[in-house]
Amino acid sequence: MLIIFLGPPGSGKGTQAKIISASLHSKHISTGDMLREVAGSGTSLGNLIAEIMSSGKLVTDDLVNQIVQEILGKAENSANIILDGYPRTLEQAVFLDDIYTAKYLVINFQIDIDKLKQRVSRRFICKACGEIYNNALAPTKIDGVCDKCGSTEFISRADDNENALITRVEAYQQQIAKILKFYQARNNLYNVNADDTVENVAKHILEAVKNH
Ligand code: AP5
Repeated sequence: MLIIFLGPPGSGKGTQAKIISASLHSKHISTGDMLREVAGSGTSLGNLIAEIMSSGKLVTDDLVNQIVQEILGKAENSANIILDGYPRTLEQAVFLDDIYTAKYLVINFQIDIDKLKQRVSRRFICKACGEIYNNALAPTKIDGVCDKCGSTEFISRADDNENALITRVEAYQQQIAKILKFYQARNNLYNVNADDTVENVAKHILEAVKNH
């Protein structure tokens, strides 16, 4: 089954995608991670994408749709796929619905926008394995050491600053109502309270998957 994670920046999509994909043995596809990889490639396309992402704006539908179509084609043998960060516009939602004809479930992460600043500004990520932490809300068990792989090297994201966050939230707010309406009409939308513990959010997502 394809499981789509929708939600504002910092709502916990990446954190949950890692937990749920491990639990369901699913493939985790993050458009943000894929675009960051291209952005770091040093090519002219990479430099353009890096500039767009660090400003907090969305990358064009055409480019993201092309990346997703290609990666979904390669992942067609996976029993479960988690799509984290896509669709972000109604055009992307319609495109996906056209190319993906099997069953899919949409998980909508709900959280007050004013909670996002702390989540994003205090986020740090393990450079080796990509595990996501937060200085205030989700620190490593041993200071400076990744719980998952033991690495001591961490990175932060170029778009985790106040100005880019404002732009990212605006981009989310401009599109989300249209996307939710699209999925409500398809009866495959499940809302989850993302302002809960990591464990409880995961529990509710797994319940939704089981009941779908
Ligand atoms: P992307 O990488 O997808 O970023 P995002 O959607 O803005 O989401 P984030 O990764 O910031 O947050 P998250 O919801 O994954 O939260 P996380 O789990 O890290 O996209 C980046 C950019 O790429 C976009 O701005 C755009 O430019 C481009 N892009 C990507 N997809 C695109 C598309 N489809 N179309 C066009 N452009 C696209 O958690 C956040 C923090 O909170 C962490 O510190 C974590 O430890 C903490 N936390 C998580 N859960 C909890 C909890 N339950 N309680 C307490 N703390 C928690």
